Amino acid sequence: MASERSRTITAIYPGSFDPVTNGHLDLIARGAKIFDKLIVAITRNLEKDPLFEIQERVEMLETVTFDWKNVEVDVFDGLLMDYARARNASVVLRGIRAVSDYEYELQMAMMNRKIEPHIETVFMLPGEAYSYLSSRLVKELARLNGLPKGLVPAAVEQRLRLKFG
Ligand code: PNS
Repeated sequence: MASERSRTITAIYPGSFDPVTNGHLDLIARGAKIFDKLIVAITRNLEKDPLFEIQERVEMLETVTFDWKNVEVDVFDGLLMDYARARNASVVLRGIRAVSDYEYELQMAMMNRKIEPHIETVFMLPGEAYSYLSSRLVKELARLNGLPKGLVPAAVEQRLRLKFG
């Protein structure tokens, strides 16, 4: 008989989330299903010129993840592995949309493993409808008033409208 698992598995889903897209949400839904706790962690000061302030990104993520009771939104400074250790996480969750993401993700995962061998990076694939979606393109399209429907949550669409009119 298989032994009952008693350990709680906490995963961190790190990123810039500037802003959160439906692709991120798709991955959060998948991660929340298999991990006991999922911490969506926004990195501070990574991008020099972000569109949304950290607090705005936290608010948007909290709004769109409200229904998942095992999902928490947080902000971290510095090294991801230091943060993961401090939060007792054993997994880092990352999404891979296309082969083009792989090289960058592999580099980060291997470097993170070098820093902290006890934390595993787990890759998941978002739904194919989101395989071409990125926050960068969302911002560009919103700025040019050409963002198609259904790529970002309604709360984010509203904030983009406020930014760009
Ligand atoms: O949304 P992004 O920009 O693809 O996320 C990149 C992120 C935040 C996961 C990465 O830049 C990161 O982990 N930054 C924290 C600093 C760090 O630990 N850097 C070393 C990574 S090997």
